[in-house]
Amino acid sequence: MTPALPILWLHLLSAVVWVGGLAYQTHVLLPAARRGGQAPVADMLRRGRPLTWTAVALVVLTGFYSVTRLGPLERVLESGAALTLALKFMLVLGAVAIAGQRDFAQVPRLTRALADGDDPRPALSAIAWMDRIVLLLAAVIVFLGLAISRR
Ligand code: HEM
Repeated sequence: MTPALPILWLHLLSAVVWVGGLAYQTHVLLPAARRGGQAPVADMLRRGRPLTWTAVALVVLTGFYSVTRLGPLERVLESGAALTLALKFMLVLGAVAIAGQRDFAQVPRLTRALADGDDPRPALSAIAWMDRIVLLLAAVIVFLGLAISRR
């Protein structure tokens, strides 16, 4: 067995962990926070970060490895896979930037608001919007990944 298959497996597993975790947080935890459970939810969002960012690092690293396995450059260019890959890469960059802003600026802002007795709703609303955008980007990224592997 070549390393390509386990690496692709890890690529997909990491994507599932990242996007699945985000979907759970935005559709289960954030509604719970809006109904009054802000402090435990803020704690859960903080605790989710190591798993999220391990998954992000793995999906990116295994993605770069998979690029090296796509075959001869001329074929990659001719098939349109290069263009699809470029688009996918830009969307991943955007998703990672927004996810970083969410986890390392808005989640601490939520924690601070709760500790200082301020209104946590602005931070919660920013997190909810960022999550929606990242989930939308992820849906397109998955489609582009499938298009690349079936070029
Ligand atoms: C910089 C980051 C990334 C790079 C460079 C990258 C690169 C690639 C490449 C080259 C393939 C084709 C593999 C093959 O055919 O052997 C692929 C497949 C795929 N990628 Fe990514 N990827 C990245 C991030 C992501 C992310 C963030 C997701 C999901 C959120 C994702 C989901 C997928 C999916 C679903 C496939 C299809 C697998 C298959 O059908 O075999 N990728 N990726």
